[in-house]
Amino acid sequence: MNMPAPSDLQIRPDGTLRHLLSIEGLPRSTLERLLDAAQTLRPQALGGTALRQRLAGRTVCNLFFEPSTRTRSAFHFAASRLGADVLGFDVSTSSTGKGETPADTLRTLEAMGVDCFVVRAREDGAVAALTAAAKPQTALINAGDGRHQHPTQGLLDMLTLRQARGEDFSNLSVLIVGDVRHSRVARSDIAALRTLGCRDIRVCGPASLLPDAGELQGCTVGHDLDAMLDGVDALMMLRLQRERMVEGLVPSLERYFADYGLDERRLARAKPEAVVLHPGPMNRGVEIADAVADGAQSLIREQVSNGVAVRMAVMLELLGG
Ligand code: CP
Repeated sequence: MNMPAPSDLQIRPDGTLRHLLSIEGLPRSTLERLLDAAQTLRPQALGGTALRQRLAGRTVCNLFFEPSTRTRSAFHFAASRLGADVLGFDVSTSSTGKGETPADTLRTLEAMGVDCFVVRAREDGAVAALTAAAKPQTALINAGDGRHQHPTQGLLDMLTLRQARGEDFSNLSVLIVGDVRHSRVARSDIAALRTLGCRDIRVCGPASLLPDAGELQGCTVGHDLDAMLDGVDALMMLRLQRERMVEGLVPSLERYFADYGLDERRLARAKPEAVVLHPGPMNRGVEIADAVADGAQSLIREQVSNGVAVRMAVMLELLGG
């Protein structure tokens, strides 16, 4: 049986979200609604008790089959600051180690009253596939599946860009650098940028770390970073995903930094007001220099803070708070 596309699974006929599986296929109105809501929620995202009744009585489970610091913690804080009960399910000590499948794990926890699962999976499409095991009223949020999508990272990156550069993306030049091939973040960011009207999306990396040309339609693709920095408003640096690589895709980490690492000298070639984003975790000295990661043009900590607000907005929409 063929699975429906994530875009068909995640939207109800009335346009509201049923699951959040992919940025691909989300209408611009939905993206903008979530970004507006996240912006409004920002003051409450980092503390306070004003919204603690909004999801009282609802239960959210973090089901992470891959490691995470930012996404897992942000979902935990987002749910608890909205008053939901949160189960931080520990896969490493669970019965998945005895062979229980992800679908049976989900059904088991659902039978204890979980309303929303936040799932990180190793395989592309695994979160969408899990929707088939869930009850109709249970919501799933993709917290990153393989190389496929990381929709809440895409949303928080767009919120961070909007705060820095305003809501009109049509005249922005955005350069995405590095390991695009293995990056679910890049796929979500490119989809979000296209939907929000960005007309100059540049993608730079070694040929071994770029996906098939079909995935980058409409983007300007190149391999010479120094030649692609002119006029850039925002640089999105990507982590070199060594855990997903086969050997030999880059000659050495030193060579990679020399060719694709962002240091102050390179950053000076972009617009003076250019901003730097990185989804984290960073490989300092591999894709980004300390002076840039911690410098005045870096929005990396803003991204992390925005991550809580975005996840609150998504949960409120899914759980009807
Ligand atoms: N950006 C991101 O997904 O980071 P984590 O793997 O730490 O969640």
